[in-house]
Amino acid sequence: MKTHEVYFDYLGVEPFEKLMLDSGISKTFVLCDQITAELCLPVLNEMVNLRDFTLILIPTGESHKTIETCNIVWQELTKVNADRKALLINLGGGVLTDLGGFAASCYKRGIRFVNIPTTLLAMVDASTGGKTGVDFGSFKNQIGVFSAPEFTWVHSIFLKSLPANQIRSGAAEMIKHGLIYDPKHFDEVISNFNDLMSFISDSVSIKQAVVAQDPTEKGLRKILNFGHTLGHAIESFYLETPSSLLHGEAIAVGMILEAYLSYTRLGLPNEDLVTITKHIQSLYDLPTVNPDDYQAIIELTKQDKKNEHGSVRFVGLEKIGKAVYDVPLEADDVLKAFSYYKEIIL
Ligand code: GLY
Repeated sequence: MKTHEVYFDYLGVEPFEKLMLDSGISKTFVLCDQITAELCLPVLNEMVNLRDFTLILIPTGESHKTIETCNIVWQELTKVNADRKALLINLGGGVLTDLGGFAASCYKRGIRFVNIPTTLLAMVDASTGGKTGVDFGSFKNQIGVFSAPEFTWVHSIFLKSLPANQIRSGAAEMIKHGLIYDPKHFDEVISNFNDLMSFISDSVSIKQAVVAQDPTEKGLRKILNFGHTLGHAIESFYLETPSSLLHGEAIAVGMILEAYLSYTRLGLPNEDLVTITKHIQSLYDLPTVNPDDYQAIIELTKQDKKNEHGSVRFVGLEKIGKAVYDVPLEADDVLKAFSYYKEIIL
């Protein structure tokens, strides 16, 4: 997979305008869901000259991140005879950029696409690094390919209409980037939690630095999953319940649990564990996890994509800023981590 650029709003609209003038593009399509069509497309249209484009509209939400929704995209492209020189602009959150990237990568064996993320979560994580795909039944991102966009265009203007809980959700990935790679970034994010705009590009740079070393996740890229083995399991467990959590909220819990596992298994210093716990606890409204649910959550970790040869692995921290991957996850240790979590949220 080729690497790709991420352009930020401070560079102006040039990169985008340059692409729009590319005579190699036969037809431009903009992929939106109902929300981004209403709130973000007019903003984009105001900022840049999209010239002639065709809007492709898909339903909003994770439940529509399916191959059936890809069919809608492929039908719309086919209906107007889009050829291999067509360009798809994905305007939306992570569900939309993942799905749009996948649909574009499969259509006629691949057309070019651009990601314009409209949520903080998508800006700092989903829209960069070339992971594309859809869910399959209850399995998240089960079907997909690594395929890089032409570029990702991160514009903070879209964050203006984003609710505070969605900002907090995206910020969890920024905290994660600091914890796995850069203590300074961790300090900056937790100290400027109410105004993160100036730290978005640093966070993206950390992700790009990791992806550049291991684009298709053979090894190092796995560290981007810190907090996700248990966080994803918790997210999936509560998905169908009234206590459903946003992705970043579940990852916040996962980071505390996996920091505790790092303390017991990898010698993460106690002061680092306390720092991580204290800050995440003060920034997030942490949910209670019912002890009756521990076993079911542990069961769900078996679905994690980082597992190998039937053994569940997680990403741990040796210290803040230094992550290690492929650490075996033992159920007994997880139960102890849940006990620690229960104590701290009392
Ligand atoms: N979201 C983790 C990754 O892109 O590898």
